[in-house]
Amino acid sequence: MQVYGLLGNPVGHSLSPPMHEAGYRELGLDARYVTFEPAPDDFDDAVAGARALGVRGLNVTIPFKGDALAHPDVEADALAERIGAVNTLDFGGEHVTGHNTDAAGVTRAFEHHGVDLAGAGVVVGAGGAGRAAAFALADAGVDVAIANRTESKAVDLAADVPRASGHPLDAVPDLLADADLLVNATSVGMEEDASPVPADALHADLAVLDAVYTPVETRLLRDAAAVGATTVDGAWMLLFQGVEAFERWTGETAPVDAMNGALRAEL
Ligand code: ATR
Repeated sequence: MQVYGLLGNPVGHSLSPPMHEAGYRELGLDARYVTFEPAPDDFDDAVAGARALGVRGLNVTIPFKGDALAHPDVEADALAERIGAVNTLDFGGEHVTGHNTDAAGVTRAFEHHGVDLAGAGVVVGAGGAGRAAAFALADAGVDVAIANRTESKAVDLAADVPRASGHPLDAVPDLLADADLLVNATSVGMEEDASPVPADALHADLAVLDAVYTPVETRLLRDAAAVGATTVDGAWMLLFQGVEAFERWTGETAPVDAMNGALRAEL
């Protein structure tokens, strides 16, 4: 049996176990996905223990994403280095390798909805999710404008991302006028009926991805649907970051429908 899991603190609320295990069941794989909650300063022991026990792969979340990147035994790939965070460890090779599947979560969520990754994109937010989204879109060929409440963080991030520019939040309506893609990578809309973008700045030629998935239908997505924009909810991003890890670990094409069904049932 192969063991996969999630390393975080806290991890109690995680939707990853049912999502991944639905995939194993669908493909008939003898595997389990479990959660591990080491103390915040026990990351090194956790990695050594996982290795010794033959754990095949781990997702890594708060507060360990930076630890995973810095760990001397983890060979982070180039994308994870650029984003500055590892969310997936692969123990299957000679060395433990580190990856960031949040970027693929963004691009694959758009692609699954038939959205062309080209033209101009606006990323609102410059935290961890904003970094992953900005690199994902830029690497796919999109010209990215990053807007953030704290403008300096958007400007700093833009300096790292190919062809990107940084802006304050109040520039969003102007930026959206000519944009094809919008990603909300702030926490605005989480557990509250609020949007980081004025509704009248949205238009029918936009594809809008909201990284927030609690609730699945956010104020931003409702506003976007009302003007005829293409909408992609945050559960798709969560799904595809998991699908990307699943495929790396198992070497199989993930059964996306089964994993999506299990995830939506939890939400
Ligand atoms: P994550 O890793 O999920 O991206 P984070 O690093 O805490 O989380 O980033 C949260 C993002 O949401 C930031 O871009 C933050 O803006 P600041 O950099 O100015 O803090 C943004 N954010 C949080 N609350 C916000 C609000 N009420 N209005 C606008 N932006 C907000």
